This record gives sequence, structure tokens and C-alpha cells, in this order.
Amino acid sequence: MYIKFCRNYGADKKDEAGTNLSPESKLSVELEGEKGYQTQGNVFLYRVACLFLSIICLLLLLVVVILGVKLQTGSTAVCVGTEATTPENKKTSPSSDQTCSMEHCQKWFPNVQPKQVGCQQCADGWLPLGRSCFYLSKFRLSWDEGQKNCTARGGSLAVISDQTLQTFLTKKGDMKYWIGLRRQGDTWNWVNNNVLQQSYWSDDKPGGDCGVLSSGQPAKKNWMKAPCESYTYFICQLQF
Ligand SMILES: *[C@@H]1O[C@H](CO)[C@@H](O)[C@H](O)[C@H]1NC(C)=O
Repeated sequence: MYIKFCRNYGADKKDEAGTNLSPESKLSVELEGEKGYQTQGNVFLYRVACLFLSIICLLLLLVVVILGVKLQTGSTAVCVGTEATTPENKKTSPSSDQTCSMEHCQKWFPNVQPKQVGCQQCADGWLPLGRSCFYLSKFRLSWDEGQKNCTARGGSLAVISDQTLQTFLTKKGDMKYWIGLRRQGDTWNWVNNNVLQQSYWSDDKPGGDCGVLSSGQPAKKNWMKAPCESYTYFICQLQF
């Protein structure tokens, strides 16, 4: 607007003063030149801005692709872990007995609770309770063999540390099971070296130095003392 005014003013002056170039019209020319320079500058600015935004777009696209790939890799790990627990893959997967452990899950998803990503906490045939998995055997061994068998599975004979677990194992079982309880001298100790505190001994008095949980009897009183060499089922515990 200002430029147009100057130009008109210059033109008027020119009419008045004939062909002589007045200072005003000179100013107008200068301003015109400046205007052209400004337009060129704007175009340059637009181009820079466009380039800048394009680069940002490409960067964002790259981030999306990277995140997508990363997430897919993570999901695959979860799937592998879950698959490992299905019977079909039991023979082919070397880690089938361990399945997808908590550590495995937390390694991939440090900020996510395992349940939310569907990661199984216990292997097939193992029962979850608290931060442990329990395996109730379907075959009989001596106490020592049972403990060895549990150790080979990465755990130990079960340590019944509270009433909840005692009730849980009694309810889940239907046999007599070795638990991780054994007499050493005068004291009964758990396999984790804890001294027995809360106990659920039955009134039966058959002697022996190893503890058995008898699922057929009420949870309040269903432990029996049996000879460690005798054969019965057993309960393994795996803590995670
Ligand atoms: C546990 O014992 C059974 C029967 O003896 C055996 O078949 C199985 O391989 C053992 N498991 C482990 C992990 O040692």
C-alpha cells in the first residue's frame, strides 16, 4: 500500500515536472526493487520451511517404522514364550519346561505387567500361586528322588510357608505328596533351610523323617511323617 502510494505520488510529480526524474519517483523505484527482493526472499523462506518440514516428516516416518519393527520383535518373543508351553511344541523347544519366565517377560517389557502381554507365568501342568509355580507329580518317587526330580526342573520340593498355600495344595491334589519337609535330629526343616514354624500335622502317628501332605484329609491337619525311602507322589515348587 505504501509502495503504491509512493508510486502514484511519483507518477503525479512526473506529470507535473515533465520527463524529469523527481526524487520521489527514484524512491519509488528503489522501493520496487526492494519489493522484488522481498518476494524472492519469501520464496526462499518457503522453500527452506518446506524442506525443514519434509525432513521432520521423514524423521517421524523413520521413528514409526523403527517402533513398528521393535514392537513386532517384542511380540514375537512373547508368542515364542507362549508357544513353548503348548504341547505341540514341547518336544521341539528346548526351553519348553521353563516356558516364558518372568525374567524373559520383564526383559522385553520392563514397564509392563506380564499378565497384560499374556505371558504365562507357569509351565504347562504347573499351578501358579503367588510368586511360585507348583507341580503335583503323577508318578511316585522316594523323598530324595522327588527332591532331585524337582531340582532338575529348576525348583525344589514344596515349602508350605502359609495357610493359603496349604489350603491351595490340599485342594488341588488328590494323593499323598512329599513336601520339602524333613527331620534333622530333633527339628523339622524345610528344604530351603527354614525351621518349621506353622505346621499341619495329622493325629496319625506312623513314624518317619519326611513330611507328606495327604490331600484327602482337611487342610488343617493333613501332614504325615513317613519313611523317606517309601514311594509316593510329590509336589515341586518353582519360585520366580
Ligand atoms: C523326573 O522323574 C521321572 C520319572 O523317573 C523322569 O521321567 C523325569 O525325566 C524326571 N524329570 C526330571 C526333570 O529329571
